[in-house]
Amino acid sequence: MAGKKILMMMTGSIAAYKACHMISRLVQAGHQVQVAASPSALQFVGNATLEGLSGRPVVSDLWERERAMDHIHLIREADLILVAPGTAHFINRIAGGIGDDLLTTLFLAHDFKKPFLIAPAMNTTMYLHPVTQASLKKIKDMGLRILETASGVLACGETGFGKLLDPDLILQEVLEALGTEPATTARPVTTASSLSPIKVLITSGGTKEPLDDVRVLTNSSTGRSGAELSNQLSDLGFDVTLLRAKEAVIPTSADVVQKTYVTHSDLKELLQTEIQKGSYSHVIHMAAVSDYQVDKVLLDGQETKASKVPSGRQMTIQMKPAEKILPLLKTWTTQPLKVAAFKLTSHASSEERRQAMSKLFPAADVVISNDLSEISEGKHPYLAKTSAAETPLAGLSELSAWFSNWILNKETL
Ligand SMILES: Cc1cc2nc3c(=O)[nH]c(=O)nc-3n(C[C@H](O)[C@H](O)[C@H](O)COP(=O)(O)O)c2cc1C
Repeated sequence: MAGKKILMMMTGSIAAYKACHMISRLVQAGHQVQVAASPSALQFVGNATLEGLSGRPVVSDLWERERAMDHIHLIREADLILVAPGTAHFINRIAGGIGDDLLTTLFLAHDFKKPFLIAPAMNTTMYLHPVTQASLKKIKDMGLRILETASGVLACGETGFGKLLDPDLILQEVLEALGTEPATTARPVTTASSLSPIKVLITSGGTKEPLDDVRVLTNSSTGRSGAELSNQLSDLGFDVTLLRAKEAVIPTSADVVQKTYVTHSDLKELLQTEIQKGSYSHVIHMAAVSDYQVDKVLLDGQETKASKVPSGRQMTIQMKPAEKILPLLKTWTTQPLKVAAFKLTSHASSEERRQAMSKLFPAADVVISNDLSEISEGKHPYLAKTSAAETPLAGLSELSAWFSNWILNKETL
């Protein structure tokens, strides 16, 4: 299927973040997506994310130097125009023939010879307002395709109509309008086959090594970053499976598939099973895996295998190095697999950090380093290193955007 040119217009709704998912899926399916965002839309989603996902500069300003004719060219070049999310403000303005900014002028340059879809998103009262309903009817009568809205809990706390239609259903409508997907009456909730997403496997949380049946040796990893990264990559349209420690933070996105582990051996086994399926293209290995395992427990110098080691005695725990999981990951599949590893250091110099990171290549294609001395409440910078470049990242959102670009093979922002 040849890639199509899609002009994606975004306006200033709280649902703007859902457009990222759509852009990502369309790009993954081989289409070219040109984003035209209203200044209000850019209050909700940043330029870097939209450009990173679409791979092209976002246009927003009618008066931008050297791009004066965008308002004609972009609509002429497009095979399809999608407005998602469409605000009440935008819908009412185009219905009135207003053309005082880039997006409304693009609409005035539309010749009605190609599909033009609008996915409204707004509060129920705004949606049911007579002005909005009249505008929707007017532009529908002109030949625009107005997508349904979903009902549910809105960002304002009310429940009712006006919620942006499920992004996967919008994508289904887009593909049908492009003629790349047969029309369906029963709309699948799952993603269209031609938009089959990239599968990413993430590990998070810390392993536990048992001393006896009730005591464990573990580390302080909470799994919070892994859960949040899973949410963000899932929102961006990737198909995410998270292998998390049993008590680690749980991702909020219902789309993230989760499996849990306790020990080093459990995690190794889970990773092997998942990777052997051969369907993952990327593994982001964030879990804090124990470097040591309990070899023997001695009480007063005598080895004990008690299911609960008695108290009040001199206990010696003998540890042995645990097998390194990272070098095994790529050996478990014959499919191309990209691996990201994490290296946490404590009060290391830049040189020490660099050396620690270097050791993880070539088992990893990218190493993300973070140092305890730089982490505090609300602050967690990272350094991403590939064979080509080092990129400092201010926090988790930047890390997610970087990973999204890495997965889509566009890691230099
Ligand atoms: C937090 C917040 C959320 C908003 N969400 C919506 C929305 O979902 N739908 C809508 O029509 N307007 C929404 N608005 C109002 C629009 O952003 C506002 O009307 C703006 O002028 C739209 O400009 P645009 O249509 O040029 O993007 C929201 C405003 C704020 C501050």
